[in-house]
Amino acid sequence: MTIEVVHDRTGLDRALDAQGTGSRAVVMTMGALHAGHLALVRRAQELADHVVVTVFVNPLQFGPTEDLARYPRDLARDLALLEPLLADGDVLFAPSVAEMYPFGDPTVTVSAGRIGEVLEGGQRPGHLDGVLTVVLKLLHRTRPQIAVFGQKDAQQVAAVRAMVRDLDLAVRVEAVPTVRDDDGLALSSRNAYLSPGQRTRALALVGALRAGERAAQHGAGADGVRAAAYEVLAPAVERLDYVEVVDDAFVPLRPDVDGPATLVLAAVVGTTRLIDNVPLTVTRRPVEARPADTIGG
Ligand code: PAF
Repeated sequence: MTIEVVHDRTGLDRALDAQGTGSRAVVMTMGALHAGHLALVRRAQELADHVVVTVFVNPLQFGPTEDLARYPRDLARDLALLEPLLADGDVLFAPSVAEMYPFGDPTVTVSAGRIGEVLEGGQRPGHLDGVLTVVLKLLHRTRPQIAVFGQKDAQQVAAVRAMVRDLDLAVRVEAVPTVRDDDGLALSSRNAYLSPGQRTRALALVGALRAGERAAQHGAGADGVRAAAYEVLAPAVERLDYVEVVDDAFVPLRPDVDGPATLVLAAVVGTTRLIDNVPLTVTRRPVEARPADTIGG
């Protein structure tokens, strides 16, 4: 397949014009592609006539002590993974930092508001503002009808949806379920940083999600779900950043509220910060109605 690799606005505009009249979906990535990204590309292909994949490690979303410098970059490898998937006329847009931010750090940025200040936003101040700023720029540049994101970054998806709603953007946001290794670990470019021992310990993240799910199924309520996940995760990791049960606006579910929710968590294993989440439904049952072996766990 001949996919066009373009690095600047002129090349991108030419490649998009050549796609003609059909619909277009964009998959935005920071490279270091894995099967999770490829699932996004497949979904984009199901939804639209043409696909644009972007590869850009966005400095604006990294904090001063984060892994911007060591973030894996290998465009040739990314291209080799995409080539068997993409069709003629699909486009890979891989701009430089100077191409995306020709005037240096932008003066005007997008604020993620409240959603950018809690959980991921609380741990990584400015992160979601940086994400939304580059997502908006990439939407303008790639002009898609559909943008496909991974549900693994649930708070990012919620922030993008809020931006699309609040800023009247004419794009549909599609979220694709998290892709996991056989042992359950969510695929992430950052898994490459884990030693074999750390990778085994990282399974506590998925163990915590499963414990939370079980607690929810047994009617434990938001507090019980949180406690069940915490019990599994806390002893296994170097630092536990948060375990929370949130609604679709990323507001923590009150203990007396039932409904659809997402159990989200973040922790550091070794020196690698990992996040994961699972959707669940909180339906409290009185303690006496719950099976004894599951109460609190
Ligand atoms: O999810 C990511 O890889 C990034 O946050 C994104 C959406 C490509 C913006 O840089």
